[in-house]
Amino acid sequence: MSSIRTIALTSAAAIITLSGAALAADAEREVFGTLEDGTEIEAVLLSNDDGVTARVITLGATLQSLQTPDKRGTVDDIVLGHDTPAEYLATPQYLGATIGRFANRIGDATFSLDGTEYTLEANDGDNHLHGGVTGFDKLVWTITDVSEDDDGAASVTMSLTSPDGAGGYPGTVEASVTYMLDDDGTLTIDHRATTDKTTIINMTNHSYFNLSGHKDMRPIVSHDLMIPASAYTPVDSGLIPTGEIRDVAGTPFDFREPMRIGARLRNGNDEQIMLGLGYDHNFVLDEGDEDMRLAARLTAAVTGRMIEIYTDQPAVQFYSGNFLDGTTPGKGGILYRQGDGLCLEPQVYPDAPNKPDFPSARLEPGEEYVHVMKIKTGVTK
Ligand code: GLA
Repeated sequence: MSSIRTIALTSAAAIITLSGAALAADAEREVFGTLEDGTEIEAVLLSNDDGVTARVITLGATLQSLQTPDKRGTVDDIVLGHDTPAEYLATPQYLGATIGRFANRIGDATFSLDGTEYTLEANDGDNHLHGGVTGFDKLVWTITDVSEDDDGAASVTMSLTSPDGAGGYPGTVEASVTYMLDDDGTLTIDHRATTDKTTIINMTNHSYFNLSGHKDMRPIVSHDLMIPASAYTPVDSGLIPTGEIRDVAGTPFDFREPMRIGARLRNGNDEQIMLGLGYDHNFVLDEGDEDMRLAARLTAAVTGRMIEIYTDQPAVQFYSGNFLDGTTPGKGGILYRQGDGLCLEPQVYPDAPNKPDFPSARLEPGEEYVHVMKIKTGVTK
C-alpha cells in the first residue's frame, strides 16, 4: 500500500474521483438515509471498470450491496440487504453487517478471563449472539478514510469506539473495518481492533450471498459449494459447539469437493442438520497458507457467477439462511424467505472463550487484532 493518497472528506455528497481516466476504481460518498433521531447514515460506493460495485454504509459498517456481472455481462446485486436504515435496525438478520465484538455464539452468555467472570447479554435464548443487542451491526461507524491507490483499488475505512463494559465485555475497544475493491473484482475486508484491558474479539462480515442475483432471486439450494475443511464442530440444541471436532467424511458436512447445497440440506436423518434447521455450523479449515487461505468457493450454474472467500482465520461458519422467514422485506421490497441467501463467515470457533482447546479469541492491550478476508468475484468458465 505504498502510494495511497488520502482524501480529506468535507462534503457528504461530493464525488471523489482522484485523477479520472487512469484509475480503475472510484469511491463515491453519498447519503444513504437518516435515523429517527436525525443521525445521517452515509454510504460509500466503490466501483471498478468491470462493473463490480460495493456499497458500504456507516450503520453497522455494512456491505449494503455488491454488484457483479454474470457470464452474459448482466450486472446484478449478489448480497441481501435493505434500502433504509430503519429496516436494518428493525430486523434481526445481520444482513451484510460487520459483527462484533464476538461473532457467533457464547454459551450461557458468560465467559471468564484470568479468573474474572463476565456476563454478556443473552440475546439468543440463554446464549449470547453476534455481540449482543447493540453489537457492532447496530452502531453508526465514522468514515475515517477514503483512498485510491496506483494499483487501481479504492477503499473506505470506518471506525468506532466500543466503551469498556459495552454489552458486558471488558476493555475499551477501538475497532476499524476497511473495505477495498480492486480492479480484479476482489473485495478485501480488513477488520482491526485494539483494547486497553484484556478482552476477547472475533469480528467478521455477515453477508448473505445469492449468486442468481437480486432481480431474479432463486433459492441458494441450487448453488454449488466447496469448503476445504476436513472437520466441523457439532452443536447442541442451542447451536453451541459441544467441543467435539468431527470428521466430515461420510456426512452432509463434506464439502471438500463441490456439492450442490440442496443435495443434503433436507437430510432428516442427520441430527446436526436437524439441530441447525439446515447448515449453521463452523467448519475447521484445513491447514494451508495461514496468511490467506481459501475458506469457500460458491458457484451458481445458471448465472455462472462465482465467489471465493479467503481468510486468515481458522474457521468459517456456513449458515444456509434458515431463519429468513419471509417477514423481512429486503431491497426493492423483496421478501427474503428461508434459503434465499447463505452466509460464509470466517472467524474463530463459536464459544471459543469457553473452550480452552479451541483457537483463542483473547486480545491483550498493546496487541492488534486483525482479520483480513477477501471476497473474490468472477464467473466460471
Ligand atoms: C448467524 C448464526 C445463525 C443466525 C444468524 C442470524 O450466522 O449462525 O444461527 O443466528 O446469524 O440470523
